[in-house]
Amino acid sequence: MVNRMKTQVGIIGGGPSGLLLSQLLHRRGIDTILLEKHTREHVLGRIRAGVLEHGFCELMREAGVGTRMDREGADHHGINIAHDGRLHRIDLHGLTGGKTVKVYGQTELTRDLYEARDAMGEVVIHEAGNVLPHDLTTDAPFLTWERNGETFRADCEFIVGADGYHGVSRAAIPRDVLREYEKIYPFGWLGVLSRTKPVSDELIYSSHERGFALCSLRNPRLSRYYIQVPLADRAEGWSDDAFWAELKRRLPAEVAGRLETGPSIEKSIAPLRSYVAEPMRHGRLFLAGDAAHIVPPTGAKGLNSAASDIHYLYHALIDHFERGDNTGIERYSDRALARVWKAQRFSWWMTNLLHLFPDEPPYAQRLQRVEMEYLLSSDAARTSLAENYVGLPF
Ligand code: APR
Ligand code: PHB
Repeated sequence: MVNRMKTQVGIIGGGPSGLLLSQLLHRRGIDTILLEKHTREHVLGRIRAGVLEHGFCELMREAGVGTRMDREGADHHGINIAHDGRLHRIDLHGLTGGKTVKVYGQTELTRDLYEARDAMGEVVIHEAGNVLPHDLTTDAPFLTWERNGETFRADCEFIVGADGYHGVSRAAIPRDVLREYEKIYPFGWLGVLSRTKPVSDELIYSSHERGFALCSLRNPRLSRYYIQVPLADRAEGWSDDAFWAELKRRLPAEVAGRLETGPSIEKSIAPLRSYVAEPMRHGRLFLAGDAAHIVPPTGAKGLNSAASDIHYLYHALIDHFERGDNTGIERYSDRALARVWKAQRFSWWMTNLLHLFPDEPPYAQRLQRVEMEYLLSSDAARTSLAENYVGLPF
């Protein structure tokens, strides 16, 4: 027997994209069903980046979940680039006419979204197995899934694939329709989270002859650091001591000298990849967030690219349900992709600027060096970095 139900928007994936969209729609009286493959604990156990653009923060507030973010998140007016043993500050605020970014962990904002849902008496269907979207190019698409040995079906007006890079939604777009663009980088980031005082209250992106390093933070007692490592490395192969020693080598002496070290509470390696799938709509299926695109973490654009999709999709669905206007739905893919590609370009540029590419020919290495020298000597170049880092307008 199949348990059958009905909703306006069926959402696959209970990560930040799916949760945020669902919350925004609920506030406007639009019904959603949210299916998540894993448990809540599993979703909240993932450590991800934590730099939010203004537009993301605005969406959180519009969804009614901005209170803790505004109280506990920190507004950053600048970032630093370390190069040749010196720190160079990029004055984000000054170069963009007053814009900033907010540092607030993805884990925290995901928790806030779950709690807001609880407060509204809405559920996320966790541990939904074998989720599948059907009949996407008809007027009556539906979702099926399994849970506790039972089969379920939800008839939907629209389906949103917010199920991340490894989800099932993208695979529902026929091979002859889907175009994929990909770039794999020949290294990964080894990340460590530790209960130590951050070495700097602003982020430090370090370009060094031994490889890239990043000093980030979650709050005044929680630090997040990364170093570029070969793809073949395993996190288990890196002791805490070896990590701290290598991080220090890649930082200016003055910064390394005041680095507080301690036991890692999380240590993992993430490969770096750029990926875009087009189109982002197929019939009544919309892709959003990591389901459609991935960036290397260098510019902190992963979550923010997801947020811009949600912005366009939210407005498209509101226009449809509240005014019968389908322009936003028709144009969703083009609008979302236009901004997605700009974030791709910026993330690619920052990754190329800051990492060590040992296999590149000498000519490319010299170009990388002069790119940095130009950035550090030109207001125009720094302004370009700043306007992208704080986030282009939606
Ligand atoms: N059925 C149901 N849920 C699924 C399925 C499936 N077949 N496959 C994946 N999921 C769930 C995952 O368990 C995950 O919780 O979809 C969710 C997708 O979440 P994310 O991968 O976090 O993707 P998204 O919500 O788009 O978040 C944007 O920004 O900082 C970046 O990559 C980072 O996660 C972040 C992303
Ligand atoms: C992080 O804090 O995890 C972080 C910050 C900035 C980045 C990437 C990751 O560019």
